[in-house]
Amino acid sequence: MQKIKILAIETSCDETSISVVENGRKILSNIIYSQIDIHKTFGGVVPEVASRKHIETIDGVLEESLKEAKTGLEEIDAVAVTYGPGLVGALLVGINFAKALSYAINKPLIGVNHIEGHICANLISNKDLEPPFLTLVVSGGHTHLVVVKEYGEYEVVGKTRDDAAGEAYDKVARSLGLGYPGGPLIDKISTEGDRESIDFPRIMLEKDSFDFSFSGLKSAVLNYQNRMAMKKMDYRVEDVAASFQEAVVDVLVKKTIEAAKKYKIEKVTMAGGVASNSRLREVMEKASKERGFDFSYPPGILCTDNGAMIGCAAYYKYLKNEFSESTLNAYPNLKIDRC
Ligand code: KG4
Ligand code: ZN
Repeated sequence: MQKIKILAIETSCDETSISVVENGRKILSNIIYSQIDIHKTFGGVVPEVASRKHIETIDGVLEESLKEAKTGLEEIDAVAVTYGPGLVGALLVGINFAKALSYAINKPLIGVNHIEGHICANLISNKDLEPPFLTLVVSGGHTHLVVVKEYGEYEVVGKTRDDAAGEAYDKVARSLGLGYPGGPLIDKISTEGDRESIDFPRIMLEKDSFDFSFSGLKSAVLNYQNRMAMKKMDYRVEDVAASFQEAVVDVLVKKTIEAAKKYKIEKVTMAGGVASNSRLREVMEKASKERGFDFSYPPGILCTDNGAMIGCAAYYKYLKNEFSESTLNAYPNLKIDRC
């Protein structure tokens, strides 16, 4: 079998990542330079700072990625890059770098949707996974339920109408004084809390809808804190965190299982930063097992933003000769159905 090596670049937010991926599912290298420590001091990602940092680090990340993959540029068959959704300035750094590289080595350029990349991380971690399958995409900017009908063919069956799940985690963590990014911190302290101590709302929306809404839950947490402050009563941050998390997980799992039933799909997967959440994994695993569904999810390093997932998605485009023009632009609001 011919070995196709794709060099994939991801700079849509605050990670500069370059990977070399062989035949879509084998990672030869996956170098991720995270800017989180820089953005932490601001309590969130500062777009201008992110772009500048990508420019500073991208050369070094490329060098390290090729070295780890023991691959020379002459062995690369195509250059892939995230072209949306994401921060426009951050995306443009990766796109321009990818264009220059593809021109220099005279190999095709492949633009990849960031959400499609997250979904494809499942194909790397579960080598037997084939479409059709269902993916719950839960990241800092997105909450989508996606039916993967075929390679590169997606149907969004539900999405958030307001905050993304990760965004809700980050905002609640901030109001609890936990720091940024909030997801991993809430996940960690929740293990010390009582998840049934506060009955936060489960916003399920209309019965037949697979859409999500998390802004009401976020407000409920803030209202709880305000009420307690007015009554001059103490509360345990661990209990608030655990109860909030339980409400998020409850909704995510119920909607995912219902969608799998409705679309008659027996393979359930997850993607994006929040897919690292330990409680979400545990509850989804249990619910899937009860229904006889196959459940799998990528390891943490493939849930976070990374180049390997982009390389995987690009491989299936390569097989279909779906290449991009050298005029490829950044699309901050790119939709998954436009892959
Ligand atoms: O996919 P990602 O790395 O970047 C985006 O494309 O947004 O997701 C980042 C988000 C952040 O909101 C972060 O708080 C959340 O994922 N996150 C988590 C966990 N790890 C990261 N949320 C809940 N539990 C976690 N363990
Ligand atoms: Zn992401």
